[in-house]
Amino acid sequence: MKNPIIQTFELTKIFNSKTIAVNKLNIIVHEGIYGFLGPNGAGKTTTIKMLIGSLKPSSGEIEIFGKNINSNEKINIHKLIGYVPENPIYFMEMTAEKLLKHIGSIFHMPKQEIKSRISNLLKLVELSNVKSRKIAKFSAGMKQRIGIAQALMNDPELLILDEITANLDPLGRNQMIDLLKELRQQGKTMLISTHILPEVQKMSADSIGIINQGNLIMEGSIQELNERLGTKVIRITPNNDLFRNSLKPIVSKIEEDADSLIIEANDLKQVWTTVAQISLKNNVVIKEFRLTGLEIENIFMKALEKDNKNVELKNIED
Ligand SMILES: Nc1ncnc2c1ncn2[C@@H]1O[C@H](COP(=O)(O)OP(=O)(O)OP(=O)(O)O)[C@@H](O)[C@H]1O
Ligand SMILES: [Mg+2]
Repeated sequence: MKNPIIQTFELTKIFNSKTIAVNKLNIIVHEGIYGFLGPNGAGKTTTIKMLIGSLKPSSGEIEIFGKNINSNEKINIHKLIGYVPENPIYFMEMTAEKLLKHIGSIFHMPKQEIKSRISNLLKLVELSNVKSRKIAKFSAGMKQRIGIAQALMNDPELLILDEITANLDPLGRNQMIDLLKELRQQGKTMLISTHILPEVQKMSADSIGIINQGNLIMEGSIQELNERLGTKVIRITPNNDLFRNSLKPIVSKIEEDADSLIIEANDLKQVWTTVAQISLKNNVVIKEFRLTGLEIENIFMKALEKDNKNVELKNIED
C-alpha cells in the first residue's frame, strides 16, 4: 500500500486543562475520499484545525505527505493543502472573481495563470455566470462552492473540508457531492467531516473514520467496517409469513417491504438453513437470498452503541 497522505499519532487536544476534545487519535488517510464522521461535539473540527496548523495539539504528532507538520518544511506542506472551514467568513464585499484573484496573488501566482485558473475553477464550481456578483449576495450553496474554488486556487493535492454540505438543500447537496466526486477523479485526496451519514455513502468514500467523544472508534472502508461489526444484512424474497415467523427468534432485526424481508443476523449459515428447510417443506420458492451489507447509518449507530456501552462498562469498573 502507498504511504498515507495524513497520519496522526496519539493526537490530543485538551482545552482549559479539562475538556478532552481529541484523545490520542490515530487516523490514517490514504488517497481518495476519507469521510470523517462523528456526532456534534465529537472533536472533528478540533482535529481538522490541528491538521491545518491553526490549533496547537496538547500532545501527539501529525504527518502530512510523510512529513511532520512541525518540521522546517511546515510552509511547504501547507502549500499542498486546501481548506474550507465549517463556517467560512469570506470577504463578503468582494465578487467571486475578485476573491479568487486575491487568493492567487497571496500565492504569488503569475497573472496569466491566475486568469486561466479562475476561469477553470468558476466553471468547475458552476459559478461562471455570477462571477461579478458580490459574495454577500450568494446563496448558502454558492458560498460553499466559492469556498471550494478558493481552496483549489493553488491546486493543492489535499483538501480538508469541514461540514461542507451543512446548510445545503438536497439539490445543493447533490451538486456538491458531484463536485467532490469530480475532484476525486482529478486525483485529489479529501478529508471531509460530516454528521450527515448517507452523504458519505453517496460520495463513495474510500474510507471512513468514526470519532466519538474525542476517540476514534472505528476506521476502514465501508466493507471492512461491516465485516468488523460482524452483522450481516440479508435480503430474502419473497416476504413470506413462514420465513418471517421462523427467522424471528434467530435474527437480531427484521424489517420488510412488499416483496422482501431484510434481516440482520450474525450467523448467516443458520439463516440459510432455516430458509432452505422451509422452502423445501412448504414448496416456497426462494427468489432471492442476498447479502447486502449495512447502510452507513447503521454502521455509525452500531459503532456508537458499542462505544457507549464500553464507556458505561468502564465507568462501572471505575
Ligand atoms: N476553543 C474551545 N475551547 C473550549 N472547548 C472547546 C473549544 N473548541 C471546541 N471545544 C470543545 O471540544 C469538543 C469538540 O468540539 P468540536 O468543535 O471539535 O466538535 P465537532 O465534532 O466539530 O462538532 P460539530 O459536529 O458540532 O461541528 C466539544 O466539547 C467542544 O465544546
Ligand atoms: Mg465541527
